[in-house]
Amino acid sequence: MRLLWALLCLWPLAQVALASRVRTRRELGPGLYEHGVYDAGGSYCQRGDVCCLGRDDGCAVPYHDTLCYCDLFCNRTISDCCPDFWEYCLGIPAPFPKAPGCARAGRSYPTGATYRENCNLCTCSPAGQWQCEDHACLMDGELIDAINRGNYGWRAANYSQFWGMTLEDGIRHRLGTFRPSPTVMNMNEMHMNMDSNEVLPRHFDAAAKWPGMIHEPLDQGNCAGSWAFSTAAVASDRISIHSMGHMTPALSPQNLLSCDTRNQRGCSGGRLDGAWWYLRRRGVVTDECYPFTSQESQPAAQPCMMHSRSTGRGKRQATARCPNPQTHANEIYQSTPAYRLSSSEKEIMKELMENGPVQAILEVHEDFFMYKSGIYRHTPVAEGKGPKHQRHGTHSVKITGWGEEQLPDGQTQKYWTAANSWGTAWGEGGHFRIARGVNECEVETFVVGVWGRVSMEDMPHK
Ligand SMILES: *[C@@H]1O[C@H](CO)[C@@H](O)[C@H](O)[C@H]1NC(C)=O
Ligand SMILES: *[C@@H]1O[C@H](CO)[C@@H](O)[C@H](O)[C@H]1NC(C)=O
Repeated sequence: MRLLWALLCLWPLAQVALASRVRTRRELGPGLYEHGVYDAGGSYCQRGDVCCLGRDDGCAVPYHDTLCYCDLFCNRTISDCCPDFWEYCLGIPAPFPKAPGCARAGRSYPTGATYRENCNLCTCSPAGQWQCEDHACLMDGELIDAINRGNYGWRAANYSQFWGMTLEDGIRHRLGTFRPSPTVMNMNEMHMNMDSNEVLPRHFDAAAKWPGMIHEPLDQGNCAGSWAFSTAAVASDRISIHSMGHMTPALSPQNLLSCDTRNQRGCSGGRLDGAWWYLRRRGVVTDECYPFTSQESQPAAQPCMMHSRSTGRGKRQATARCPNPQTHANEIYQSTPAYRLSSSEKEIMKELMENGPVQAILEVHEDFFMYKSGIYRHTPVAEGKGPKHQRHGTHSVKITGWGEEQLPDGQTQKYWTAANSWGTAWGEGGHFRIARGVNECEVETFVVGVWGRVSMEDMPHK
């Protein structure tokens, strides 16, 4: 019925158009099928429910990045008919051989078409089959399920900010702390003065002891600069604590990334000892003054926008305006030399409780990226998937407290609480808990504390 109606209405018009024989742009356009690229199984005239039996240049539907036609004129001189024109509109087989395409979700795609499956690119091969890359992905549904089914004490989640990245990219762009060199590792440990019988509380949270002085986790994005983020985070808290809240600066990781360049590689990784050296000798401004801009790992570092000069007695002041023109306060904050703690759980706890959060290196494995909640321990879930799926790299974080949890079997599970630098949407509000006292992922291997450089003039006057 519809077909008949279209025929009656459009046929006279089409005659006129054909008679005039104007060379339209349409006639000059390249045939859709010339390169063997056509979507033999696609639904175009059918999906748009259009068939025009004459010439009607408006009788077109979107076809990939161009248009295809569903009017009879389309098969006269050039082949810009939609691939389903013959079958759908005329009820006859299409007059071209069906090129092999690849099917997906009820649609057909031409040779060379691509789509992304998480971190892998799939391409339609000339043989009519999808061929997909085989990278290990940073987010892996199978691993997430295996962790959540297993009894590992923590839960995994799929993070949209990590979806589509390869595990290799995660290791390369989301961490960024070089392992301390043997000389630095052998740095004399500072021992806490403590009685071996000293009883420490079962739970401790720096934010509860020092309200308003513990800074929220930041997001390093795809900048492998955890060396700068963890250093700025620990220094921010410690300067706030040691000045008794008189100063509560959130220090700028970007200041370190862009300006602490001696033997450092910005968003391609850096050393903690170098970061502390810079904080002591040059100092940094606040994050507000010098905001984070290095969203992507760039081989070409951004130029340093902040400089300082000595004002005597080791103190320094800025000689440049804040890179953020909205902010005028460009005070330079400094620390005293950083010190390494022993790897003793008790000593780390005592230091944390007395002087504030500490910095720790952390060996990050593939499953850590998927951490959502609970007490993290590295799991063997990726072992069955082969070595490509088991990767690790060195990271650094800020330990902010500890606690313990009673397991159903009566055992006590001790943990550290730490702040990461993957934003507050990751983990437990940007924090994670990790097994304590067992050097899980080397978290107790290299722990650093520092004092803010706070002088009498920085203190409130009574
Ligand atoms: C156009 O379609 C008609 C069927 O209506 C067919 O007989 C004819 O061969 C086609 N012409 C071309 C050039 O494909
Ligand atoms: C993970 O999240 C992404 C986007 O946020 C989604 O496209 C994907 O289907 C999810 N994958 C799994 C396994 O849940």
